[in-house]
Amino acid sequence: MSDSVIYKTQGQIAYLLLNSAPVNGLGQAVRQGLSDGFAQASQDNTIKAIVVGSNIGPFCGGADIAEFSAGTFADKPLLPQVFNQIDASSKPVIAAIDGLALGGGLELALACDYRVATNKAKLGLPEVHLGILPGAGGTQRLPRLAGIANALQMIVSGTPVSAQQAQQLGFVDLVVKEGEDVITAATNYAEQLLAQQAPALNCADMPVDRESLPSDYFAEFRKSIERKTRGFYAPERCIQAVEAACVLPLVDGLKKEGELFLECINTPQARAQQHLFFAERAAGKVPGVAKDTQARPVKKVAVIGSGTMGGGIVMNFLNAGFATTMLDLNAQALERGVGVIRKNYEITAKKGKLTGQQVEQRMGLLTTSTQYSDIQDADLVIEAVFEKMDVKKAVFKTLDECCKPGAILATNTSTLDVNEIAEATSRPQDVIGLHFFSPANVMRLLEVVRAEKTSPDVIKTVLGCAAKIKKLPVVVGVCFGFVGNRMLEPYGREALRLLLEGATPEQIDRVLTEFGFPMGFCSMIDLAGNDISYLTRQAHPEVTQGDPSYGALVDSLYELGHYGQKTGCGFYQYNGRDKSANPDVITLAEQAAFKHGITRREISDQEVLERCLYPLINEGALILEEGIAARASDCDLIYVNGYGFPAWRGGPMQYANEIGLTNVLNALNKYKEQLGEYGERWFKPAPLLQKLATDGKSFNAV
Ligand code: 3HC
Repeated sequence: MSDSVIYKTQGQIAYLLLNSAPVNGLGQAVRQGLSDGFAQASQDNTIKAIVVGSNIGPFCGGADIAEFSAGTFADKPLLPQVFNQIDASSKPVIAAIDGLALGGGLELALACDYRVATNKAKLGLPEVHLGILPGAGGTQRLPRLAGIANALQMIVSGTPVSAQQAQQLGFVDLVVKEGEDVITAATNYAEQLLAQQAPALNCADMPVDRESLPSDYFAEFRKSIERKTRGFYAPERCIQAVEAACVLPLVDGLKKEGELFLECINTPQARAQQHLFFAERAAGKVPGVAKDTQARPVKKVAVIGSGTMGGGIVMNFLNAGFATTMLDLNAQALERGVGVIRKNYEITAKKGKLTGQQVEQRMGLLTTSTQYSDIQDADLVIEAVFEKMDVKKAVFKTLDECCKPGAILATNTSTLDVNEIAEATSRPQDVIGLHFFSPANVMRLLEVVRAEKTSPDVIKTVLGCAAKIKKLPVVVGVCFGFVGNRMLEPYGREALRLLLEGATPEQIDRVLTEFGFPMGFCSMIDLAGNDISYLTRQAHPEVTQGDPSYGALVDSLYELGHYGQKTGCGFYQYNGRDKSANPDVITLAEQAAFKHGITRREISDQEVLERCLYPLINEGALILEEGIAARASDCDLIYVNGYGFPAWRGGPMQYANEIGLTNVLNALNKYKEQLGEYGERWFKPAPLLQKLATDGKSFNAV
């Protein structure tokens, strides 16, 4: 028997204890251990019941995800085989669930006859987030135990439930109080079962109740998730598997589930979503920040600035229980800012997502001030004032004077040089960038900008705080726009240039939404306001590299006061919620094209896509080369979580891996040649891209 599963007996009970840190992933050794242990217990006539639990704490995090790309998930014994063996047991099998039972972990528990769980346990089938479906019986056994509607909801959303909810849904038999040992509780439960001569239960004998649901139940369910799951492949396969459970005996349903699982596992989507899973874990490992680096304690937080961004940042910390001071020198603005925060909470409460008491609790953590002396004891200060270097430097000079030694001083700048801001203080080692994305209380991404002198313990501290406020932090270096906005620049540049060359806003937006973005570039600029785009470019003339045609169309719209949705006109015309083409855009584009000597022509959809995406990927390669991002997957996380890049494509760098770096390289070279001086300027392939493509490697090799 392998060490991955410990086998022991006590009286008439055998124990199979998973022993594979960190989360008892069901790799080949664990599968083998389970299978061997189960056979041993079955054959031992002195054993009357079997408890399956964990020797290391958490019950089981599911199949070993790394085995999917390696192909070793198909090494025998297969997970479904092991679970079928357990389900068919003639002796009662009791799962003892501590911490979590996810994916294959829950499927293991479902194959057991009874389930005992601690009251902190989370049980779920999150496979859909990995681009697959539960492939070891989950789609067949859960509908039998919890009912079709509950099972479908859990499988398609991937959202886990608590032990108490699982008990209500019918697939947990006993919830153990906090502090009680789950193995002891499962042992007691097993003894009771034996005393009562309770039978082993076989899922094959359990009926699926299809009759109580309306005949159009699945059709309606599909409609209800349509918008949320647009572009994703796995949710529909999850539904088909549950449909199969309604009409097929268990053995045939399992076969169907297996076929659907294999359909999913080899798709680019599954690779992309699993890439993102590992990307999130990798992002927490920051070069130069050792495991044993001590974080600084953070109890009190201060945010400078009470505008939209400042208010959103404050809400994150209030939500997580931090005492937070919002500081603004303008008392009226401060009052307005507090009003906005309260209103936001009240809207959430109206939707039933917060109680009135929770609203008051959060507001109770908020203090306000117009004086810097009031934040001298703050552990973390985040500046969110006007995006201008002089203004930011003045704030940091004041913070340096008033904040206690060791306080972390963070800037929320999205474009400015954090090194320069840090040098405005006498403690650059304590200065860091925290680039929140708007709306800051909603968006999960947080670009953590490490300046030249930022100390490792400051990084460690903000990563800890980010986890507490439920953000996804990605550490990046200093450059214009950091990773996200820097990669956005060539994407936007090409979209705008294509308008001069003959594309329309409708075509560009259609191509990009068909690719999977929730919104095309022109609609996005109309939403954000093209005045922002214009003013940023004015403030950073270096970005245009002297290209006179750069952003020409935005300039014309800006000069006409067409700022986008907020003025009712931009790339489109707006009438309330109705959006229609703005006929002036074509005329303005023609004029700009004439002025800059650009010949207008028919632009294919393929060109729109390649010209928007490939320069963005190329910029990502430059970013990697310069060490601004530690790994390509960091760029992917930023793009998926901050810029609407479809998660099912895994981010721009993973997309490039999937279509082949040589194809990206060849297309860049093609446009470089085709577009003359413009091409020479903007389509130079990054040396890293050239090297990887030549070596036949992907960005994952960096
Ligand atoms: N397979 C392989 N590795 C896994 C894993 C899994 N199922 N679950 C976690 N890990 C690894 C992580 O990559 C990480 O490794 P690292 O330290 O080298 O970076 C380590 O375990 C710890 O993970 P976290 O940092 O995420 O630790 P947390 O305590 O924050 O979270 C967790 C633990 C909730 C289990 C989280 O890791 C998680 O959500 N895991 C995935 C769960 C899942 O999706 N299960 C389904 C798998 S697919 C399946 O079961 C198919 C089946 O139906 C056939």
